[in-house]
Amino acid sequence: VARAVIAIDGPAASGKSSTAQWVARELGFCHVDSGSLYRAVTAAALRRAIPPEEWTGKQVLDAARSVSTTPAGTSVVPLIDGELAEAEMRGPSVTASVSRIARMPAVRAWVNEQVRRVARDYDVVADGRDMGTAVFPDADLKVYLIADSWERAKRRLVQHLRRLPTPEEIAAETDRLVHRDALDATQSVQARDAVLIDTTHLLQEEQVERIVALARAAIRRPASG
Ligand code: CDP
Repeated sequence: VARAVIAIDGPAASGKSSTAQWVARELGFCHVDSGSLYRAVTAAALRRAIPPEEWTGKQVLDAARSVSTTPAGTSVVPLIDGELAEAEMRGPSVTASVSRIARMPAVRAWVNEQVRRVARDYDVVADGRDMGTAVFPDADLKVYLIADSWERAKRRLVQHLRRLPTPEEIAAETDRLVHRDALDATQSVQARDAVLIDTTHLLQEEQVERIVALARAAIRRPASG
């Protein structure tokens, strides 16, 4: 039996990864966050102390060789030089440079191969920008999550700061998100057969519930025999 694939895409900080992780837990699937792989490669390249403006595809692929993946709970997560580097990967210097690396075709091929490898062994919930288009055009279910950019900025800051952000902080974060969305525009495509969910006014558990219900309907395989 072919493995089931749920693809969740959307712009920066649209809640893809936390939603995908939760959906995977509900379905008993494996979660793989393609953005975390782009972030890991970026962090590995930054460790080599080459200025981002000078990165070549060859140097970045070389840095990618220090990135591996490991199962962690219900997710598959990247390691850099064999260790978790969550804070480094989510930090401002990686966030500021990741789009530059994500534009390199060789890097996209490398990330796509990692994600597809997980899907050969497990039923997956994969999230990113192009899971429903470039990576899994035949996914059982494709979801495209959007939310108002101010709301996305607020959620991302609450996640990072663990307190309520000020309006000035939200405004600055909104600018950064909108800028990154523009840099990511070519690789962020909504599949024609994706279900669009605007989460601006949804609780996370509501969007999880909707996606789980859609997934259950989509993967109900014909009974054998
Ligand atoms: O969670 P957030 O929206 O901040 O981004 P992410 O999913 O961690 O992805 C980080 C970056 O990786 C994005 O800004 C894109 O440049 C890149 N990316 C991509 O190009 N294609 C994907 N499938 C996933 C991420």
